[in-house]
Amino acid sequence: MLNIILMGPPGAGKGTQATHLVDKFHLPHISTGDMFREAIAKKTPLGLQAQAIIARGDLVPDDVTCALVKERLSQDDCAKGYLLDGFPRTIPQAEALEKMGEEIGRPVTLVIDLEVPEAELIRRISGRRVCPKCGASYHIDTMKPKVEGICDRCGAELIQRKDDNAESFKTRLDNYYKSTQPLVDFYKAKGLYKCFDGTKPLQELLGEISAELEALK
Ligand code: AP5
Repeated sequence: MLNIILMGPPGAGKGTQATHLVDKFHLPHISTGDMFREAIAKKTPLGLQAQAIIARGDLVPDDVTCALVKERLSQDDCAKGYLLDGFPRTIPQAEALEKMGEEIGRPVTLVIDLEVPEAELIRRISGRRVCPKCGASYHIDTMKPKVEGICDRCGAELIQRKDDNAESFKTRLDNYYKSTQPLVDFYKAKGLYKCFDGTKPLQELLGEISAELEALK
């Protein structure tokens, strides 16, 4: 079963790869970042709680994030697998996910880590434009939409994320090194970890990741 985690620092290309992989492998795309942004847009209690945390680049508390993912993984469309994007991000979240996997009979089968140097992350984040409707990601220089400012997939107007500024990015990167990078050893010890060069062109990287997923089917 394809029970997949996509991890990597902010701007590594998780969302970009996920968008293509879920179409190709017919998996539900579970992005905690997208779920929080949707809650913020709808002004739900979760959104109101998460708004300021996300804007400054900090992590939403583990208990809140884990409850959200647990509920999502219990839905019917995850019965044949899932693609988690941006979760887990801390050791307690990874431990909680192990429990969830046992409970629903769908343990993680592969962890894909996208490695990208810091200078390239900064370049990507500062030029990123996103679709607020379908979550697709573009870049003003290197991944332009067909029509400037408009999403190729759903036609919505592209925006710049509130946390895509220098100060929030620094906090996000610090949090990544402190809280998320320890997951590399956690998953290596379980034989689930596979690292990819995230600086490769989108289609080439997609091909490499797809080959890995095909082998798991
Ligand atoms: P989240 O939305 O997950 O943000 P993130 O991890 O910071 O990652 P990004 O979305 O910024 O980058 P990405 O890796 O998806 O890159 P993308 O594909 O867009 O989380 C946001 C916030 O929510 C967190 O900061 C936190 O507050 C909270 N949160 C979420 N999950 C949480 C959790 N588990 N626990 C606690 N809090 C949580 O690509 C970036 C750019 O690069 C784009 O412009 C793209 O076009 C370009 N690009 C992509 N691939 C390539 C390529 N191969 N070559 C060249 N350019 C490329």
